[in-house]
Amino acid sequence: MMKNITKITCIGAGYVGGPTMSVIAQKNPAIQVKVVDLNTARISAWNDEDLSKLPIYEPGLAQVVQEARGRNLHFSTDVAGAIAEADMIFISVNTPTKTYGKGRGQAADLKFIELCARQIAEVATSDKIVVEKSTLPVRTAEALKSILDNTGNGVNFHILSNPEFLAEGTAIADLHAPDRVLIGGEHPEAIAALAQIYEAWVPKERILTTNVWSSELSKLVANAFLAQRVSSINAISELCEVTGANVEEVAHAIGKDSRIGPKFLKVSVGFGGSCFQKDILNLVYIARSYHLDAVANYWEQVILLNDHQKMRFAEHIIKTMYNTVNGKQITVLGWAFKKDTNDTRESAAIYVADHLLAEEAQLVVYDPKVSAEQVYRDLDSLGSRTPADNRRLVRVENDPYIATANAYAVAILTEWDEFRSYDWERIKKQMKKPSFIFDGRKLLDKIALVNLGFHYYAIGE
Ligand code: NAD
Ligand code: UGA
Repeated sequence: MMKNITKITCIGAGYVGGPTMSVIAQKNPAIQVKVVDLNTARISAWNDEDLSKLPIYEPGLAQVVQEARGRNLHFSTDVAGAIAEADMIFISVNTPTKTYGKGRGQAADLKFIELCARQIAEVATSDKIVVEKSTLPVRTAEALKSILDNTGNGVNFHILSNPEFLAEGTAIADLHAPDRVLIGGEHPEAIAALAQIYEAWVPKERILTTNVWSSELSKLVANAFLAQRVSSINAISELCEVTGANVEEVAHAIGKDSRIGPKFLKVSVGFGGSCFQKDILNLVYIARSYHLDAVANYWEQVILLNDHQKMRFAEHIIKTMYNTVNGKQITVLGWAFKKDTNDTRESAAIYVADHLLAEEAQLVVYDPKVSAEQVYRDLDSLGSRTPADNRRLVRVENDPYIATANAYAVAILTEWDEFRSYDWERIKKQMKKPSFIFDGRKLLDKIALVNLGFHYYAIGE
């Protein structure tokens, strides 16, 4: 008989580990939950008395942390200690695309996962259930098991796959009411132990169990299907622009078909986020490694179309502004990859900005939740120009009215709700004439803006 789970440790206090463990602790007050990370600044921020300083911005997160932190939710940098005492260990570390060696630019980099496995093996002196929470290539559990069994202290390890499906910006709502929880594994008692934790608040029929490989693959496939819908509607947006159709009307009309459904058909300047591109590249890499070229090429198109969408938006800005943006101020509203998050990983804004900067545009950036340091870090990490040039060409403001003063154009790159309620008449008065708006999210009221005298372009019409 497996003993009751009373202590959980999660390695990785990021966008998944932090919110997921906060909710598990909130709903299971009898279980002690410890979230550990090597990043001391991140852990200090999780422990900050001032809840507005949490390292992640998510609506509703602060309340959950407030309820559970100090009671049965703890954040710490003592990774080894937390592993030693836990009955169940979640691995929730980052699995970015490899930037070196074999599979560079496509395969998932598993070095952080392997480090975790080796540390667990070294430290553990009692049986553990090890849960893959990170998104991993199919068959990673096999590698994990091999490391644990061959380097460990002779204790038993049961490996489960439990991928996370939360979306940023709605993480707490998604965790509180998931469409499903997926658990892949072989050992019935280990599966039951994990299921029991979720059963504290998730209806039993929403907890699915599969074999490990189906679970690992389902996570990659779910993201691939979601991203594919975005690329599909974005592809149609370009066709709408030349034919006089309106992409929102088309999305609405097809979404009424219950087989297609209305969600995830919102046109955009391109999807971003840390996962869609990474996970599809990973799927493509796996398919190629099994010589399934037709499968790989099919999924690769989702990414190629997304790159095309970002570039054609930037190109459209340049072309409309008389083929030169050199020295012209363009105000970028929104830097996060979607609204209600401070996460900027793979945000379309970064790539659109980079393209405009290559033409020597002067950018002013405003985002309600993203810091100036983050904007510069994102641009510097592309390596397209020197950090000094990025600072010469880009200014970051924390007031939208200051940001738009003297602009030739405004580009909307994130769908923050607040952009809708701005005093656009006031903004118009302080911009150069003609005043352009390029709406990459089809967010604003076209008729109102045209009546104010703006030259308004929205993607997909
Ligand atoms: P993240 O980068 O925000 O967090 C990962 C954390 O792990 C970092 O703080 C890092 O310091 C820590 N870490 C790395 N190696 C460590 C080690 N050996 N010991 C201790 N700490 C270590 O990443 P994330 O966005 O939380 O994503 C984590 C995983 O979850 C990825 O595989 C991702 O694909 C998957 N995922 C992410 C989301 C999302 O919305 N971000 C959703 C579902 C799944
Ligand atoms: C996505 C999935 O939705 C989650 O289920 C998954 O857990 C997560 O990836 C992950 O594995 O990391 P996330 O990237 O946080 O979540 O956010 P989404 O809401 O999926 O948006 C992703 C990108 O697509 C954003 O840039 C968004 O603006 C864009 N998008 C989304 C569109 O352009 N149109 C849409 O209709 C929907």
